[in-house]
Amino acid sequence: MQHFEITQLLEAIYFRYGYDFRHYARASLERKVINRLRLAKLVNISAMTCKILYEPSFFNLFLKDMSVTVTEMFRDPYVFKKIRTSVCQHLKTYSRVNIWHVGCATGEEAYSMAILLDEEGLLPRTRIYATDYNNHSLELATRGNYKADKMPQYNENYLKSGGKSSLSHYYQQQGNIINFDDSLKKYITFANHNLMKDQVFAQMHLVFCRNVLIYFDATLQNSVLNLLKESLIHRGFLILGDKESLDFSQQREYFENYANKERIYRLCANL
Ligand SMILES: C[S@@+](CC[C@H](N)C(=O)[O-])C[C@H]1O[C@@H](n2cnc3c(N)ncnc32)[C@H](O)[C@@H]1O
Repeated sequence: MQHFEITQLLEAIYFRYGYDFRHYARASLERKVINRLRLAKLVNISAMTCKILYEPSFFNLFLKDMSVTVTEMFRDPYVFKKIRTSVCQHLKTYSRVNIWHVGCATGEEAYSMAILLDEEGLLPRTRIYATDYNNHSLELATRGNYKADKMPQYNENYLKSGGKSSLSHYYQQQGNIINFDDSLKKYITFANHNLMKDQVFAQMHLVFCRNVLIYFDATLQNSVLNLLKESLIHRGFLILGDKESLDFSQQREYFENYANKERIYRLCANL
């Protein structure tokens, strides 16, 4: 019964707000719905459906519940090391470079990349697009403010990824808050983009889509991977998260493995 009611809730959300959560991985979605039901002290899912339909502010809470924004700077430093020591040599052959961070959460991944590109002499020729469907996260990302007590861990990641100075070189600190320099921010555009319904960002040389696909079912994973494939230039790169893979997806045949452990893929030459 509960399963059926949740399906009805997702259908209602789709028709009322255009957000299609019908293709999110079901087990974790159901846990989040039940958790919100308890917090809001609602008697059942049908009552929750009514509240979501008639109270947009309650729907915004639901959206926030659905968006897991865990992230960090230079997450999985070995991935950034591979980008620095290997992928960058390909990027250097282009006069303009476009990079897209899909599901950027609060922006740490995009700032990490801007720093790496700065140290590799690529930043002035690069435009970084960083998108998410969570406007609250995007606001934080645009401000570029982070808690200073996270910086020692982030600096450790940065050094492991082959960082050439110190992370503190790139920000100003005031009390327990750091703010990244405008010299990085001016190369990054944060924007709302919903993978459930929005279109491609064209002509990308490198697309990050890390730790996003794990929340989707196989249908949505395939449609997102198709969108990402369409947004890449000839021989463009795609980077997934460490628990994600192209294996078993409909797009597998279009990509070759570039670096297995790092989950870096490259569009095949014969496309
Ligand atoms: C766990 S975070 C990953 C952050 C970063 N990529 C990383 O690996 O550290 C997942 C992000 O995907 C975003 N997301 C989930 N569904 C989305 C959708 N349909 N469209 C755009 N972003 C989505 C969430 O809002 C969240 O910020």
